[in-house]
Amino acid sequence: MHSLGILLSGRGSNFVAIADSVDAGRIPDARIAVVISNKADAPGIAIAQERGLNALVIPSKGKPREEHDREVVAALKQNKVDLLCLAGYMRLLSPWFVQQFPHRILNIHPSLLPAFPGLEAQEQAFAYGVKVSGCTVHFVDEELDHGAIIVQKAVPVLDTDDEHTLAARILEQEHLAYTEAIKIVLEGKFTVVGRRLVTNVTSAHRGI
Ligand code: GAR
Repeated sequence: MHSLGILLSGRGSNFVAIADSVDAGRIPDARIAVVISNKADAPGIAIAQERGLNALVIPSKGKPREEHDREVVAALKQNKVDLLCLAGYMRLLSPWFVQQFPHRILNIHPSLLPAFPGLEAQEQAFAYGVKVSGCTVHFVDEELDHGAIIVQKAVPVLDTDDEHTLAARILEQEHLAYTEAIKIVLEGKFTVVGRRLVTNVTSAHRGI
């Protein structure tokens, strides 16, 4: 049984999508071991509590990054997390944090990386005038929005869109993409060559 950890800072819709997939068996052989928010008022952490999940608030405000990271890593290890999913976690992980879970941290980003990393990616894409945007689930490495890509989904930008309608259509795809990516990683039927993740390799070359 895999133990998932979720880190979030806000609304928590990607967390809910993952939790629904676990409950429905779309992510087999997995449970959510802990949900952690760095913000006490994050709606996502209230939902985790309502669902009876192990929900923790570990406040980041006014704390040195390293100290906060150490508290979060301690909670994840205490709960035996073997795959960590960042779901709207609006903090950069320190290199030390990333090294604690090698190739076991995933992030979702609302653009087709490497386009539009950083904050407000949907607004950036809309303002740039791209005709196609989307979302990316990737491994977390020590650089922002950078690790090997696991799943991407494209979303057309319509002439009738504004940044809100575009963001809403991207979000629908995010919810599908995260479940797909978690399944790929937990099944381990992939290899990463350079930056390229290739699925359906033979068992001799499984995982990273
Ligand atoms: C999502 O759109 C996610 O892709 C984005 O924050 C939102 C969180 O929504 N993450 C980033 O921009 C990370 N760079 P949610 O709390 O409803 O899942």
